[in-house]
Amino acid sequence: MMDVGRHPNVELMSFSEVESVSGFVGNFHVTVRKKARYVDPSECTACGECEKVCPVAVPDEYQQGFSSRKAIYLPFPQAVPSSYVLDMENCLGNNPIACGKCADVCEKECINYDDQDELVNFEVGVIIAATGMDVYDPTEYDEYGYTRFDNVITSMEFERLICAGGPTGGHFIRPSDHESPKSIGFIQCVGSRSKDGRGNPYCSNICCMNTVKDTLLLCDHYPGVEAKVFYMDIRAFGKGFEDLYIRSKEEGVKYIRGIPGDVVEDSQTKNLVLNVENTTTGKIEKHELDLLVLSQGVIPRRDGAQIKQLLTLSSTSDGFVMESHPKLKPVDAPTKGVYIAGCVESPKDVKDSVTQASAAAARASILLNAGKTKIEAITSNVDIEKCNYCDVCSKVCPYNAILSADKKTNKPPTIIEAACAGCGACAAECPQDAISMRHFTDEQIMAQVDALLSVDPHKHLIVFACNWCSYAGGDMAGTSRLQYPTTCKLIRTMCSGRVDEKFVLQAFRLGAPMVLVSGCHFSDCHYINAVHWTQKRMDRLWNKLDRLGIRADRLQLEWISAAEGQKFAKVMRDMEEKLKQVTEEEIEYTMKKLEEEAKKEEEKKAKKAVKRAKVTQDQEVNA
Ligand code: FES
Repeated sequence: MMDVGRHPNVELMSFSEVESVSGFVGNFHVTVRKKARYVDPSECTACGECEKVCPVAVPDEYQQGFSSRKAIYLPFPQAVPSSYVLDMENCLGNNPIACGKCADVCEKECINYDDQDELVNFEVGVIIAATGMDVYDPTEYDEYGYTRFDNVITSMEFERLICAGGPTGGHFIRPSDHESPKSIGFIQCVGSRSKDGRGNPYCSNICCMNTVKDTLLLCDHYPGVEAKVFYMDIRAFGKGFEDLYIRSKEEGVKYIRGIPGDVVEDSQTKNLVLNVENTTTGKIEKHELDLLVLSQGVIPRRDGAQIKQLLTLSSTSDGFVMESHPKLKPVDAPTKGVYIAGCVESPKDVKDSVTQASAAAARASILLNAGKTKIEAITSNVDIEKCNYCDVCSKVCPYNAILSADKKTNKPPTIIEAACAGCGACAAECPQDAISMRHFTDEQIMAQVDALLSVDPHKHLIVFACNWCSYAGGDMAGTSRLQYPTTCKLIRTMCSGRVDEKFVLQAFRLGAPMVLVSGCHFSDCHYINAVHWTQKRMDRLWNKLDRLGIRADRLQLEWISAAEGQKFAKVMRDMEEKLKQVTEEEIEYTMKKLEEEAKKEEEKKAKKAVKRAKVTQDQEVNA
């Protein structure tokens, strides 16, 4: 951090928050709120005189509440900049000045009680999001007694207690009596790999090796200490990790396969008794311990929603940020010019975070050095003649790539092509058909529907498949030599969000017995949340089919990932079975009904066009 602070090309803004982000790749405008520190960091020498005279003491967050800090304090010993900061919530010295002792003793006169937040604006070409993670709060695992027993601590608290810079100067003591514990237990996977609704279902990646390291520290500092680790399985993959695990066992650390059911405290001695089923021996065991450490998992940042919204980042189902492509673009966010690094993407250790940060920096520098970027020619464009300024498109766009229309000034929506990723949700949602998507125009997709149903339409199953998942799932089924019916005819769109209602209706109108729309699983859509529009549109379509007396289950929706070749083949086989149940009469009725609907629509559109032409004519006359 010191190096970063000193680097001539880096402007480090600590104690600051991103307030807003607008623009697009190469042209981002960022506003940052620099919070008031009440101490001028360029003048403060961190002499500590202010801290000595401050009468206020509050729990020290950095030391996990094991010690206290003053209202004016250095956040942590290696803080950059190495400057004090005033915690105005607890300070007595403002409004009106009631204390002011720190200001009195500060020789540099760098304390200013009237300091204000400052908004700073930046123009940047690319953005790297590396906002990190939070740790899981084990309170809900009441059976471990974290809130009830003094001698149950978390792994973060363990770090502070054994650290030379910690509240005890590195003397590892147990909180209840400040004695050195002789027997210490660790419970793994607290809040991770959970299936009972508490905690999270994913593996937190770092906890196993963190515990192995902690046990080695204990054995090193306190030879003869008894350490026991209760685990489901130890995940020691990675360079040198297995060696470390073996070393820990050789040092005498006992690894017991089984997660304790509950913890009981002896009210006199404050010792703890763990009841656990040892799944290796199949026996119920009791273990008496002086101290218990809960190896807590990691979670996405609790305040991460705002930054996700500002940078149009999408979330995976576990709340971490989703990459543009898990294999080919692991550090790119779906929004062009935005990269991700570290635990914002998933739980990872320091080495992996550094690797990913280096990759993100390299990806960013490619763009910055080139000074220009290529975009895929599948962006949307607006036909101003058809647009009626309803502004649906700008609301639908997951990338904020459409500047809103303004009816009053007759300003049509503007597509920022550099920001448009080409999902096609705007084109599918536009009620006027005023937006088309290059290479996936309405005409092109309709022509495919027409061609596929030109011969024996009642024998074909029309499948709209998104490029990234379902279509790739079909590929996977093919390369895996899985059998599925040849009656299914695939039409590829970049995202299922591109599938317009009229494509589906046209397929039915031409005699298709069944239609399937399929896309990525909800949290996997490659266009942030474009898939939400697919769901909404499908709901509308099902309602419409119902209203017209057409069996709604002839239109199916399936989420199939690129790896789910098996599922793809199964869905196609199931669809084939459903297809066999559709009668000739049903198909004929559908075709007739939709033909009538199409005629009505045409008439409506023609009337609207006449009306609009008249309005334009009147405006011209008035002008
Ligand atoms: Fe597959 Fe959006 S990319 S549904």
